[in-house]
Amino acid sequence: MGCSIQTPIVFFLWLAMATTTLALGQGTRVGFYSKSCPRAESIIQSTVKAHFQSNPTVAPGLLRMHFHDCFVRGCDASILIDGPSTEKAAGPNRLLRGYEVIDDAKNQLEAACPGVVSCADILALAARDSVVLTNGPRWAVPTGRRDGRVSLASDTNNLPAFNDSMDVQKRKFADQGLTTQDLVTLVGGHTIGTSACQFFSYRLYNFNSTGAADPSIDPAFLPQLQALCPQNGDGTKRVGLDNGSANKFDASFFTNLRNGRGMLESDQKLWTDDSTKYFVQRFLGIRGLLGLSFNVEFGKSMVKMSNIKVKTGSKGEIRKVCSAIN
Ligand SMILES: *[C@@H]1O[C@H](CO)[C@@H](O)[C@H](O)[C@H]1NC(C)=O
Ligand SMILES: *[C@@H]1O[C@H](CO)[C@@H](O)[C@H](O)[C@H]1NC(C)=O
Ligand SMILES: *[C@@H]1O[C@H](CO)[C@@H](O)[C@H](O)[C@H]1NC(C)=O
Repeated sequence: MGCSIQTPIVFFLWLAMATTTLALGQGTRVGFYSKSCPRAESIIQSTVKAHFQSNPTVAPGLLRMHFHDCFVRGCDASILIDGPSTEKAAGPNRLLRGYEVIDDAKNQLEAACPGVVSCADILALAARDSVVLTNGPRWAVPTGRRDGRVSLASDTNNLPAFNDSMDVQKRKFADQGLTTQDLVTLVGGHTIGTSACQFFSYRLYNFNSTGAADPSIDPAFLPQLQALCPQNGDGTKRVGLDNGSANKFDASFFTNLRNGRGMLESDQKLWTDDSTKYFVQRFLGIRGLLGLSFNVEFGKSMVKMSNIKVKTGSKGEIRKVCSAIN
């Protein structure tokens, strides 16, 4: 099928998106492929949807993968490169999922428009499509990223960790040009997805050598968590990060934080630290504070994040296969 075929629906969508976000990126723009590969966005969307229907865990997987890509060497698909000591092999990335979705989309795009669509853009669009599929907002994704040629496991230390203090989390986001509000908003992406017990069970028993659980956990919630994650269990069992609503993109994650029902220590700290609690309260619509729409802010912060250190123009390359440099 040729690349010049443009259905009226795609064109209309493109127009609608183009009016909402323009020129926010450093060289990326909404509709970058509208002439060179007009079906690019619809091919990615239908591929993500097909995989999501047989395996819903790809949605949080792809969102997280994009985040982990952008924080390391910018959004340049360095996360996708195979190798014994690439980013993909590093501890924080070992449990990422959804690589097969990116590969499937890339194969189809190479058949439709060879050498045109970058893996970095596929990932940025797939993350957006994943949010839409879980009932979250749609935002226009500026495109035109090119793929990086370097991927080192040792670069992944700047990824936020489940046990980082709030100061460390804020510094890691600030290093990427992201504000405290962006931090709260993007961590709110934990409204979908799960965590393995191994990343929070230390909070449930002898937290910080106190002989008791982390006091910030809701006492009524603690026995549920202990039942799911026994003290000497294998730690691989997965638990929803947004209790009661782990498959749906919504603001209930923040309600859970207010109620002491955050799974990860780094998540629950959004409520115990005053500078981040302020934004959580605004997402919750607490009286007396200027309300913030999680859906609107999430799209804005995602556009900012997905423009971190992007390679455009003649920088980088368009990979032929997403798992290897050309
Ligand atoms: C977080 O956990 C990791 C691995 O379990 C550990 O190596 C690291 O020291 C911890 N960091 C903090 C700040 O406690
Ligand atoms: C852990 O215990 C140390 C020493 O008692 C204390 O300084 C620190 O703030 C505690 N950390 C947390 C997360 O409660
Ligand atoms: C979370 O919420 C559900 C209700 O949807 C409940 O059955 C479950 O036990 C809760 N707790 C945990 C730790 O997931």
